[in-house]
Amino acid sequence: MKQLLRLDRYLSETGIGTRSEIKIWIRKGLVALNGGVVKSPETKVNPDTDEVTVNGSPIRLEALEYYMLNKPAGVVSATEDCREKTVLDLITQPKRKDLFPVGRLDKDTEGLLLITNDGPLAHSLLSPKKHVDKVYYARIDGLVTEQEIRRFEEGLVVDSGLTALPARLEILKTNADTGTSEIRLTIHEGKFHQVKRMFEAVDRKVTYLKRLSMGPLVLDEILRPGEFRKLTESEISALQHVTAEKEQTKEEHEKGDFHERKKTSF
Ligand code: URA
Repeated sequence: MKQLLRLDRYLSETGIGTRSEIKIWIRKGLVALNGGVVKSPETKVNPDTDEVTVNGSPIRLEALEYYMLNKPAGVVSATEDCREKTVLDLITQPKRKDLFPVGRLDKDTEGLLLITNDGPLAHSLLSPKKHVDKVYYARIDGLVTEQEIRRFEEGLVVDSGLTALPARLEILKTNADTGTSEIRLTIHEGKFHQVKRMFEAVDRKVTYLKRLSMGPLVLDEILRPGEFRKLTESEISALQHVTAEKEQTKEEHEKGDFHERKKTSF
């Protein structure tokens, strides 16, 4: 059984109002627990089994929430910031207070950002050991060459802070008149400014960057920058599956290594 929560805390966690607004609603008799009006904010609620209504509408506290956001340029990937608009400011429906973005996109980067309160899943998706694929679309100054594809494939020494793992670079278009290229890049890690730094290592500048996917989660084409939606059950289980699968592969890998070691020691 889940931990019991105070009624006012339960409601404020759902994001429908501030704790003081909620206390007023409770005192006014607008809140019912399992069909009966309750007037004490301290009343205990079992989130698994109790039904809470406000003004007759059921209010459920989902244990875990998952949103896909098409991050626009100009907002920061943080939960709060005293000067800048954050990605959480864009989730405009009532929302839990413990949501956070899974990883960071630069302020000028657009595209797929997962917002959740599922800490273990976020940790797995971001873990360098899991190598979850991230696919980016970018516009680049200059004409990207086949030789650069090979350099990305081999793994680049970017600078003292970053040696990038092998990555798949695809040239989508080059335009000799404007001297620009459009590319798709698949990387398996997510270090600070990774894509921009990888291109800098081959003397190129990224002029526009958008994340298209993260593991099995693909940005919806109909979501315009700034728009969001809840993930579907199948998207959530695909994410859980990919992180578990990668773990299994790692364990199998270690088991394989162990057998190898055993073989060589005899
Ligand atoms: N790589 C970058 O350089 N910036 C991002 O926002 C994401 C990946």
